[in-house]
Amino acid sequence: MANPYGHFDDERREYVITRPDTPWPWLNYLGQDDLFGLCTNTGGGYTFWRDAKLRRLTRYRYNNVPLDSGGRYLYVHDGGTVWNPGWKPVKAALDRYECRVGLGYSRITGERDGLEVSQLVFVPPGHDVELWQVSVRNTSPGRKQPRLFSFVEFAFYEALVDLTNYQRTYSIGEVEVEGAAIYHVTELRERRDHYTVFACTGPVTGFDTSREAFVGVHEGLHEARVPFSGRATGSIAHGWNPIGSHEVSLDLEPGEEQTFAFVLGFVQQGDLPKFEAPQVADKRRGREFVARWSAPGAVDEAFAALNHSWDELLDGFRVECPDPHVTRMANTWNQYQCMATFNLSRSASLFESGIGRGMGFRDSNQDLLGFVHMVPARARQRLLDLAATQLSDGTCFHQYQPLTKKGNADVGGDFYDDHLWLVLSTCAYVKETGDVSVLDEPCGYADVEYPVRSDGATDPRESLLHHLETSIAYTMAKRGPHGLPLIGHADWNDCLNLNCFSTEPNESFQTAGDVAGSQAESVMIAGLFLAAAEELAALYDHLGRPSDAHRVRGQRAEVLAATEAHGWDGEWWLRAYDAAGAPVGTHADDEGRIFVESQGWCALGGAGADGRARQALEAVETHLATPNGIVLQQPAYTRYRLELGEITSYPPGVKENAGIFCHNNTWIHLAWCRLGDGDRALAGYLSVCPSAKEDQIDTYRLEPYVYAQTIAGPDSPTFGEAKNSWLTGTAAWTFVVVSQGILGVQPDHAGLRIDPCIPRSWPGFRVTRRFRGATYEITVTNPDGVSKGVRSIVVDGRAVEGAVDGAVVPAAPAGTVVAVEVVLG
Ligand code: GLC
Ligand code: GLC
Repeated sequence: MANPYGHFDDERREYVITRPDTPWPWLNYLGQDDLFGLCTNTGGGYTFWRDAKLRRLTRYRYNNVPLDSGGRYLYVHDGGTVWNPGWKPVKAALDRYECRVGLGYSRITGERDGLEVSQLVFVPPGHDVELWQVSVRNTSPGRKQPRLFSFVEFAFYEALVDLTNYQRTYSIGEVEVEGAAIYHVTELRERRDHYTVFACTGPVTGFDTSREAFVGVHEGLHEARVPFSGRATGSIAHGWNPIGSHEVSLDLEPGEEQTFAFVLGFVQQGDLPKFEAPQVADKRRGREFVARWSAPGAVDEAFAALNHSWDELLDGFRVECPDPHVTRMANTWNQYQCMATFNLSRSASLFESGIGRGMGFRDSNQDLLGFVHMVPARARQRLLDLAATQLSDGTCFHQYQPLTKKGNADVGGDFYDDHLWLVLSTCAYVKETGDVSVLDEPCGYADVEYPVRSDGATDPRESLLHHLETSIAYTMAKRGPHGLPLIGHADWNDCLNLNCFSTEPNESFQTAGDVAGSQAESVMIAGLFLAAAEELAALYDHLGRPSDAHRVRGQRAEVLAATEAHGWDGEWWLRAYDAAGAPVGTHADDEGRIFVESQGWCALGGAGADGRARQALEAVETHLATPNGIVLQQPAYTRYRLELGEITSYPPGVKENAGIFCHNNTWIHLAWCRLGDGDRALAGYLSVCPSAKEDQIDTYRLEPYVYAQTIAGPDSPTFGEAKNSWLTGTAAWTFVVVSQGILGVQPDHAGLRIDPCIPRSWPGFRVTRRFRGATYEITVTNPDGVSKGVRSIVVDGRAVEGAVDGAVVPAAPAGTVVAVEVVLG
């Protein structure tokens, strides 16, 4: 069944939404450097600079009624009727509606009564500007004189204050208007050195800056006074709620089209004075900004630059294979989502308010895995930023604020998995780039005061490599009675709180309870540690430090022995031992008998090579797999268990309580690749793939072009319904599964290892991979219909010796093109 709301346009790398009333607002992101916008398919959303909490430029009310009202709106006043090209907020019927979700842009087009209005919104690379290119076309046989009204509501930058402290905010709002430019200058007087400017390059005939004047007090955005009256009032906001609105008057002959732009910018004054006269902002930078974006061709050039940047980004990895979902998602949408998760971690989406969470330590380290091939230099900086929020004993700030890069203790700490992800991300970066210099990069700990140099910078003694050692040592030091790693407040599963014992509704499950002296252990962390320790040991091998490699492998062997001795339940891996030493995730329990995370990580860490790894994955198939993905555990918990924490607080089938948590599904897919079953890996991949959900979209409900964090499991009345799309570790891990697991193109220290694991029915595939500046054209054929196993590899016409379990194609000089022919068998 076709999706009634839209379809993929693979040729143009767009998703085309053809009905505005999607089952939930479908989102796109604008911007990939400093200025970001959230933009739904009806133009809803907001804009911020670097940090959605501390530098919010425009206002948006989450969970509003109606949902998703507020955004970058255009009202069209045409012959007495008022409508919006994006349908909202007026919701007047449109003769035609389309939203093309593109890479870094959305093009929303509405047509009514012979007038077509199209709004292309994007943030060009490298600029703090959001551009709306607007084209208005008269498709009727007669002359038309429509008026357009733009609308944004300004935010007072600090989003929480903006939404809560009205006794202050109703009094501070200030604007200035100069020509077609509206300046939002609130708080410039005191501690800010920046303002927002909203300008228009079209024939502006009026403006408004007061929300009361434009909307009214008792009216809603759908019945805003000014667009319905058809005349701007020229209002100047004094306090209350400043907005930006232009009136644009057009005169169009039949067939005539006019194109102009609105520009929304974040302007920093730098060392200029703040004021040019008492109470008058120095607007030099703002004027330069408006002039720059008003220049003929500037907006078209910026859009071309955006498209070009995405051509370059996606050129790093391209695949042609027999599965259309893999091809489409891996080439375009999966990588696109990886950019968003890298930039925003879990901070701002339609499910994350931009206020609660900044950059997550474990999240961002994982996000990096799907991004490092696109812009390695940015990944490098991220590693250093993340490591700098680790404490000297190995503990990590669980989150940090993107604007300040300072750790944020609001959500607590003592998640005893956090530090290990830094080992995986750093090793992934070094394998991708060959840049071992990052390991020596000075990088301090958040709790240590370092000498301050004459230029004001601090001079940490330690290096990034020191952090990796600290991380390994931390897990070694934090082990429990079975020799397994302690869990602290939680591990990857934030809701498995074995030390919290929370009985008080006014506290957070994650911060309640003291972990000091706790003995609860995590088998999942054990598996993660095995993987991380092997990565570090392999890095030492590569660095020519065999004794360090040997030492780390010795530590790994200790944890491996404990895992294999005490982590096994009989048919699968246990999940944990609780604070009283009782096993969690055991057949002996009535609920929560088997969990997914430890099955995945023990396999990826190399535990159970005696056959138990495979047995555990078979148990996942038997007990946890559904057509919509693998549920987190079974049976679902039906009563609150104090000793297990938040996981038992969710209704059965939802979130961490037996929901399908797509992120951890990917570890099972990758584990099947390691064990050589490409059919299972691909089937698993497709079960959570959004592009494969179009035929059940009214159940699934979210964007078919990006992964969601969860899908309701069979224990839920809404089985198959997705929640929390966009900002999820599923994006990065799925890219790892597809590119490295299924297609088997694996960056390694010495070069590119090729070791595919595909469905037996695939005759082959082709991948183009940019790696350390060279381009590898890889052709894989599968004459014998196998899943895994490399019979031969020929590089530029020469056979590679000993290519049995995959072989490493040595890194070629930058700029070269390398032809790689692989035969499986
Ligand atoms: C606000 C505060 C109050 C303060 C007053 C004058 O009303 O709530 O505590 O005294 O402002 O600043
Ligand atoms: C959310 C968190 C992530 C955690 C996961 C499972 O996605 O951002 O850190 O691992 O939930 O609880």
